[in-house]
Amino acid sequence: MITDPPRVDGFELRALSEADAAGLRDLFSDPEVCAFMDIEPLQTEFEALDIIDWAEAQAAQGLGVRWGIRRPGDPRLIGTVGFNRIERSRGRWGEIAYDLARDQWGRGVMSTILPAVTARGFTDFGLLRLEAMVTVGNARSCALLERMGFHLEGVLARRGWWKDRAWDQMVFARLAD
Ligand SMILES: CC(C)(COP(=O)(O)OP(=O)(O)OC[C@H]1O[C@@H](n2cnc3c(N)ncnc32)[C@H](O)[C@@H]1OP(=O)(O)O)[C@@H](O)C(=O)NCCC(=O)NCCS
Repeated sequence: MITDPPRVDGFELRALSEADAAGLRDLFSDPEVCAFMDIEPLQTEFEALDIIDWAEAQAAQGLGVRWGIRRPGDPRLIGTVGFNRIERSRGRWGEIAYDLARDQWGRGVMSTILPAVTARGFTDFGLLRLEAMVTVGNARSCALLERMGFHLEGVLARRGWWKDRAWDQMVFARLAD
């Protein structure tokens, strides 16, 4: 199953579900977490449910999956990670995405988790290419991807439009071979 979570020592990953609405609202209510994301900081659980519904629909169609991240024994949702997109018909690539609560930054959490996620992409999903779209200015995300062996392929100027303005986006990629 596409939603089967990768195993990572010290963390529990589980596909997002409606039970995560409050946790996701809390996570994405932080303007610092959302600074480079294509969403305004969330205010309500209903807004979080929209995101969860989208993630569940992607998973139901085999087009993507998003796992919530927790530490064993702690109910708090500290982040999410997964594939915004999985293309297996007219290509073999996936787009990864990830986020952590602000107090989890600088502790190596995503560097610990991403290898298991990229392994799902290359080994279990049979993808040849993983990519990540990063808004220009998101230095932490760039550093993370470089640590994970991704390379900057270029900048898509004015690719995004949210928060009432255009955003340039960097394309990072890592190939299976
Ligand atoms: C992108 C994001 C997940 C990166 O978080 P991060 O904490 O910088 O990355 P990691 O979890 O891999 O941790 C690396 C940091 O922990 C430190 N660290 C501590 N122990 C470590 C370990 N065992 N392994 C690796 N790094 C470790 C590293 O030195 C680094 O800190 P530094 O950058 O201050 O030197 C985070 O900034 C975030 O959630 N941002 C908001 C959402 C977002 O923008 N998502 C990306 C959209 S493209």
